[in-house]
Amino acid sequence: MKKGYFITFEGADGSGKTTQLNMLKTYLIEQGFDVVTTREPGAMETGKEIRNILLNNETSISEKCEMFLFLADRANHVEMFIEPNLSAGKIILCDRHTDSTIAYQGYGRGRDIKLLKELNDIAVGNIEPDLTLLYDVSAETAMERVGKEKDRMEASGAEFHKRVREGYLELQKENPERIKIINADNSINEVFEDTKKVINKLLQES
Ligand code: TYD
Repeated sequence: MKKGYFITFEGADGSGKTTQLNMLKTYLIEQGFDVVTTREPGAMETGKEIRNILLNNETSISEKCEMFLFLADRANHVEMFIEPNLSAGKIILCDRHTDSTIAYQGYGRGRDIKLLKELNDIAVGNIEPDLTLLYDVSAETAMERVGKEKDRMEASGAEFHKRVREGYLELQKENPERIKIINADNSINEVFEDTKKVINKLLQES
């Protein structure tokens, strides 16, 4: 059976990871790979409704509700999209996954990280990314890129986003094999060169 790959894209709001994901999709398709792209939250039909609740700036929700909604979206996404596409041998490029919950709800909001890891495990079962690209960006660059129109998460403040970034770097230290850091302060093309290097290594090794 052809082996699929599950590759996740992580980083702060404004890190430019979505642009890189789309560039990588085109590049891999040109090389003849079978690629699908997706994201959390909000890839599936029900996920779109969950996403609206999570990111809507005009309504407030409790932090616990926020946590469960991200996890509910993930559980549905893994079962309905990730697992079948992996079994079909596709390369899945996924914009955010489990590490976002640890970085944002754990380090950002200050919720219990051990508990969040257990809840993530329940949501994903035995699915783990083959590779995670972490786009690390300075707070200044990130704020410039996000601009003035902020969603509910982006509007959580500078201190919150500083903790999120530190959380991601901590996660990378804990999982150096899976998570590769990419300096996202560089130009789009430089960042893409770094992205390709990491991906080509993964595809050549397997
Ligand atoms: P989105 O518009 O997809 O942002 P981005 O383009 O930066 O990925 O919004 C997703 C937001 O939700 C983003 O601020 C990160 C946050 N988030 C969490 O807080 N926890 C999670 O588990 C996930 C998946 C996302």
